[in-house]
Amino acid sequence: MTSARIEHDGEHLSPPTPAGQRSLDAILQSASEHSRETIRVLGQLLGNQPVTVMPPAQFAIHHLGIDGLEIASTKSTGPATSLLLLGNLLRLEMHRHAGRVVIGSPGDGLPPTWTQLDIGVDEKLVVPGRLVAFFPADTIASVPLCAAIDDRSWQREFSILSSTAHKAEAERVLADLQRRLKTGENPLRGRVLEARVDDGCLRIGASRALANERADLILPAAVWREVDMFLASATERRELLRSLGLGTNRGLLVAGPPGVGKTHLVRVIATALAGRYTTILADANSVRHHIADIYAESDTFGPTLVVLDDIDLVLGHRDGSGDNTGLADFLATLDGVRQREDILTIATTNDPKSIDPAAQRSNRFDIVITLPKPDEASREGILARHLAPLSLPLDLAELARVLDGATGADVKEVIRRAVLEHGRSFTQAELLEIAASGRWKATVNRRKYL
Ligand SMILES: Nc1ncnc2c1ncn2[C@@H]1O[C@H](COP(=O)(O)OP(=O)(O)OP(=O)(O)O)[C@@H](O)[C@H]1O
Ligand SMILES: [Mg+2]
Repeated sequence: MTSARIEHDGEHLSPPTPAGQRSLDAILQSASEHSRETIRVLGQLLGNQPVTVMPPAQFAIHHLGIDGLEIASTKSTGPATSLLLLGNLLRLEMHRHAGRVVIGSPGDGLPPTWTQLDIGVDEKLVVPGRLVAFFPADTIASVPLCAAIDDRSWQREFSILSSTAHKAEAERVLADLQRRLKTGENPLRGRVLEARVDDGCLRIGASRALANERADLILPAAVWREVDMFLASATERRELLRSLGLGTNRGLLVAGPPGVGKTHLVRVIATALAGRYTTILADANSVRHHIADIYAESDTFGPTLVVLDDIDLVLGHRDGSGDNTGLADFLATLDGVRQREDILTIATTNDPKSIDPAAQRSNRFDIVITLPKPDEASREGILARHLAPLSLPLDLAELARVLDGATGADVKEVIRRAVLEHGRSFTQAELLEIAASGRWKATVNRRKYL
């Protein structure tokens, strides 16, 4: 019951409640916050029994004590994750005024529903999904207001219901909630997030910790210089660029054949910017269908780094065949965010030529870093990095020479195969034999989205 009604406010008429519920309300009056939370979750598990089945507008008219002609609605529509985050602020306000808030049905005779917001690995918040909440005067505002939330994809909306006389106050409350999303009260801000498509909807949630270390990636010094220049444009040189009117919004395109460390590199960059930027790692599916929404969500996160991995899978040439809406949306969206100083975009591709020329025109990605296949010295470095924990007496220079033409991913596969076949200990001859045999090569194309 507690999910339907945090507590009985006594002041306002509400439909009759069973006697058992009244005594539970009385118990809750003296219960600790922790006990209330436990009971609320139990209420959800057992099925929410709404105290009222009035639709939200009727609920608001009833609780605000107004005439049906006097009701005003102040709405905010936004992408799904932004709505969840508004729901989280609503949750905080409901807790802050727990003794006085009344919760009602979202309509259709249904109980209030709650939903999950992923804020970290195994860290979830239970936030309002579909419900209406009445805040009496001197709680969320000096005047009485209702807040209604609906997370259904076709209906997604957050609204403040008030009397027409209090519309200005409702607008102020909504603007204040939206401002709070850009502060530390947004639990996803500054984190590394993943965008994926779930049930046809874009979902943005916390990503697993990025384990890609800079020291693990062996690249030529010239490439690191470019990477550091890009990082500086986003960090210590940012203010200077901005004050000189030179723009801080740098789109970076990382190009190179499969397996040379592109994904690894963008994750290293994301890690370097963590805290300062919220990172959104977008998979090919979300880029193809929801690119505009990804950038719209970024509005909520303050400075944001959007990572679009493997864009060649989405942005083929406009050759008249197939579906090009992904490309058209991509171009329109990227041109739109050029004006915003707090958004960085990094994309990766196997072959810049496979992308429609319009997508890589210099004003969309102003830095292109091409990762080469590793040279002999780099291959030796990669071998050293992965073989070091085994402390084997191996001639890495010879191995690096033999692995001519191999990518970083190939070098790792050879070592992996050796460990699979021989365990912790193998000889130079055994490793050379595996490298020459080619049986470390995967038989299927390992690119994820094909
Ligand atoms: N230069 C390198 N130094 C160290 N490790 C490397 C290097 N290049 C690739 N690797 C390793 O190879 C594996 C594959 O790299 P990654 O996924 O970043 O390649 P990619 O360029 O994104 O490939 P794809 O085009 O197939 O997506 C990773 O484990 C990565 O750490
Ligand atoms: Mg990759």
